[in-house]
Amino acid sequence: MEFSRRHFLTSASAGLAGAALYHNRYAAALDLLQTPQPAPAKVQAVTRTLEINGKPASVWGLLQPNGTQGLETIYNQPFRVVLENKLTEPTAIHWHGLYPPNNEDGVPGVTQPVIRPNESSFYNFPVIPAGTHWMHSHEGLQEAHLLSAPLIVHDSADQAADVQQVIAFLGDFSFTPPKEIYAQLRAPKKAMAMGGKMATKPDANDVNYDAYLANDRTLADPDVVRVEKSGRVRLRIINGSSGTNYFVDLGSLTGELIATDGLPVKPIRASRFPLAIAQRIDVMVQIPPGGGAFPVLALREGSREQTGVFLATAGAPVKRLPVKAVLPNGLLTLDQESQLSAVTPLTPKAADQTSVLRLQGNMAKYQWMINDIVFNVNDPGAEKSQVQVKMGQRVALKFVNETPMSHPMHLHGHAFEVIEINGRPLQGAMRDTILVPGNATVTVAFDANNPGLWFVHCHIIWHLEAGMAALVKYQA
Ligand code: C2O
Ligand code: CU
Repeated sequence: MEFSRRHFLTSASAGLAGAALYHNRYAAALDLLQTPQPAPAKVQAVTRTLEINGKPASVWGLLQPNGTQGLETIYNQPFRVVLENKLTEPTAIHWHGLYPPNNEDGVPGVTQPVIRPNESSFYNFPVIPAGTHWMHSHEGLQEAHLLSAPLIVHDSADQAADVQQVIAFLGDFSFTPPKEIYAQLRAPKKAMAMGGKMATKPDANDVNYDAYLANDRTLADPDVVRVEKSGRVRLRIINGSSGTNYFVDLGSLTGELIATDGLPVKPIRASRFPLAIAQRIDVMVQIPPGGGAFPVLALREGSREQTGVFLATAGAPVKRLPVKAVLPNGLLTLDQESQLSAVTPLTPKAADQTSVLRLQGNMAKYQWMINDIVFNVNDPGAEKSQVQVKMGQRVALKFVNETPMSHPMHLHGHAFEVIEINGRPLQGAMRDTILVPGNATVTVAFDANNPGLWFVHCHIIWHLEAGMAALVKYQA
């Protein structure tokens, strides 16, 4: 295979400490591929220290031996990765967006055993599909310790086009340990216990975090990426938050949305894009000939907090932006979603079966359910929340949100097409995670082509932990 390094190495950080993290990975990925019998890439689950709000924050991470967070690989090559657990507790890592065989999908209790401290696990499967993906712990609340990282799969078009690639990995962080946050959410709520029902006005966010991050940094000390005047930039934006939906705002730039969850869509132009938890967007932007410093912001849904990265040409002064805007942002909607259509949609055919997944919550107990079941891997009752499918079927999943809160719903091991929003049929984007707004109905369809037992769940970690999950099970 022929690869030009030129295109992969045009990205350089404008040099705030630690900002080099995202910019030197291509060389390693290419070296790997140029060796005939490549040694597997190594990823270590580790603890690391960030500086957040002026204080040291002990977080976890998924590092290559050279200190790079995350992985970049090439489409259709073997995904040969050794994952080493350097933490003091068992973990399991899920490759969010890839279609691995079921037993390499990284869901403890469902598809794979945990990896114990100082043990490792070897993965070897074709890297499909190309696109902007990510990886994260699927064990308990570990993801809220920032045990997550970008996972980019390049295709041949990436080497052909003279386009600079920039990753923005969004997150949220609290100094309060995740277990305590969860205990607070589960603690009996006085007002609710008395009233006995859910608050009528839904709150967009269950958890107020201490910091909102882009490439592990806040706007007080943002990642500044050096770009060229008149350059073209492909932004690969990943919402790796445990509980925060964002609007991505390009400010004075206009972008062209070219992929959702890594999968190409017919381009649409906009300067603001909703990005729910676990979703990804690829956006092409053109840097103006005069250059400058351009913030790419992520605005927290239903609130005033913001985070982001800067694209800056040489010498352009970067003006600091506040971590809180003056006015609150609204709630994410599916208005833009309903404009999207996939470049490679499913072949048109009627679904062989439609399964309804009713999304439910009990706020007083902080329990979240699908079809009346509080999911628990070890509970035989979980059988009832299994969607039974057969190899080769076209399967529709109809999410009916019976709660006033939105839920970003993710299906493992497959991509789906969005085929209905609130009763209106469409041939929408291909994705692996769809936002189902409060009281909305959204139907997605997928081809059952990857046998096994697959998780489908809300990607708000607090909702997943509290039971909002189900399984898709292939019958023999
Ligand atoms: Cu990204 Cu089941 O998760
Ligand atoms: Cu949810």
